[in-house]
Amino acid sequence: MSKQFDVIVIGGGPGGYIAAIRAAQLGFNVACIDEWKNGKGGPAPGGTCTNVGCIPSKALLQSSEHYDQANHHFADHGIEVKGLGLDVGKMLARKDQVVKQNNDGILYLFKKNKVTFFHGRGTFAAAKDGVYDITVGEETLTAKNVIVATGSNARALPGTPFDEELVLSNDGALRVGAVPKKLGLIGSGVIGLEMGSVWRRLGAEVTILEGLPTFLGAVDEQIAKEAKKAFDKQGLKINLGVKVGEVKTGKKGVSIAYTDAKGEAQTLEVDKLIVSIGRVPNTIGLGADAVGLKLDERGAIVVDDECKTSLPGVWAIGDVVRGPMLAHKAEEEGVAVAERIAGQHGHVNFNTIPWVIYTNPEIAWVGQTEQQLKAAGRAYKAGTFPFLANGRARALGDTTGMVKMLADAATDEILGVHIVGPMASELIAECVVAMEFRASSEDIARICHAHPSLSEATKEAALAVEKRTLNF
Ligand code: FAD
Ligand code: NAI
Repeated sequence: MSKQFDVIVIGGGPGGYIAAIRAAQLGFNVACIDEWKNGKGGPAPGGTCTNVGCIPSKALLQSSEHYDQANHHFADHGIEVKGLGLDVGKMLARKDQVVKQNNDGILYLFKKNKVTFFHGRGTFAAAKDGVYDITVGEETLTAKNVIVATGSNARALPGTPFDEELVLSNDGALRVGAVPKKLGLIGSGVIGLEMGSVWRRLGAEVTILEGLPTFLGAVDEQIAKEAKKAFDKQGLKINLGVKVGEVKTGKKGVSIAYTDAKGEAQTLEVDKLIVSIGRVPNTIGLGADAVGLKLDERGAIVVDDECKTSLPGVWAIGDVVRGPMLAHKAEEEGVAVAERIAGQHGHVNFNTIPWVIYTNPEIAWVGQTEQQLKAAGRAYKAGTFPFLANGRARALGDTTGMVKMLADAATDEILGVHIVGPMASELIAECVVAMEFRASSEDIARICHAHPSLSEATKEAALAVEKRTLNF
């Protein structure tokens, strides 16, 4: 006997679990299937984000930042630290505990919202008259509405599979039991910079090999340049424009042959290698073929602007579809799809999805970069304000970076905000709200911001758009 639901969600990451909760709030009878297992084989909903992504990486970034502060910066505040020690095992155990709290929290939320949770792999088995059969282990579930939120997996270097001992994906990178003396990373994207920062702060000699000649090509150039200066100063060795060749593993570690930007052959010898060269959409075991669910050449599920797939009643969201691979993008799509199933007008504004890189300094942005505006031939005004001139940043002892605001030359509408510096992850929220409400730079410039606060740098950047900063 099959179990019938109004909505079945396959995947319990941020896209899937949020979609399930929202659908249940709207009165549907909802099932959510997720196959992730914790160390004991039990359920661990939350997907990549909770288990091997956003949450554990931020836990380790925080721990390693505390260590770095105690090691190098407390002295500036007149605080002496003697006999500073590092217990990586305890640090990892704390991270695991943070992950578990999030897993448990999602199971609690399922109960609270009456979402029926199934632990196992959900596979499309059959489709008949717009009704889908989905198997989970021995059970069959049926529904007219299915939301696929099966996420993504780390991309491996061709010919070099992850062994998670020497060649690590994001999974292994979060479980290294002792600080490696030498750590190599391939790819200076978001994971490369975040994980490279963690292990550098804890004492590893970190070298990153990046294929592209430009650093953080998607980031506003001025901001990327400022960030690169800070990373260089910290001792993160970032080699741009390299071509990675053969990777050999052995008793001594990993040896990576590469050609540097000048075209010269080089070899990097490291104890461990993290490969962070992007992620691929995951439809393994989904049974897409069984029902004719269309995938593109990258393996992503093909969807329209509303997340509708090639099959009636089947939707797909998050990392398994086009667009940025971000937890909050997946969540927004999840909410919008649940509301569309209910006949409402769910909406995701792709123009105002913020990006944050949780390094030190943090990098955050929303909207368009200066190079994008130039390429589009859009007339714009730019205002920047350095944290060096911000009282709170000076009190914090963290004056790296700036806020940069870009506004339309004629209407003054904010087109993009780019921040590198302390708490950029939090500061960007105000800018997202402003852009969502189509505010002008003048609007931000005229709003009272608390003193002393880092947010005053945003106000000053807005004032700078009209060349009337007050504190610089
Ligand atoms: P996922 O989170 O990947 O969840 C998919 C779930 O579906 C998984 O649990 C999987 O096991 C399950 N599943 C797959 N197939 C099936 C099946 N057939 N049956 C049952 N279950 C199935 N994003 C941010 O916004 N901020 C960050 O700080 C951030 N940090 C990151 C750090 C790292 C190291 C990594 C790797 C990623 C990070 N991301 C971050 C990206 C973020 O994790 C993803 O964008 C997000 O998890 C995507 O959510 P999702 O729901 O689409 O998929
Ligand atoms: P990424 O796309 O951010 O960066 C990959 C980097 O690897 C790029 O700079 C690319 O040029 C380089 N690269 C690709 N192939 C290469 C090769 N063969 N040799 C050398 N360099 C190569 O991907 P990453 O860092 O793996 O992260 C995946 C995704 O996860 C991110 O794009 C992001 O969507 C998400 N994420 C988000 C975080 C956040 O929001 N803070 C944190 C971590 C991940």
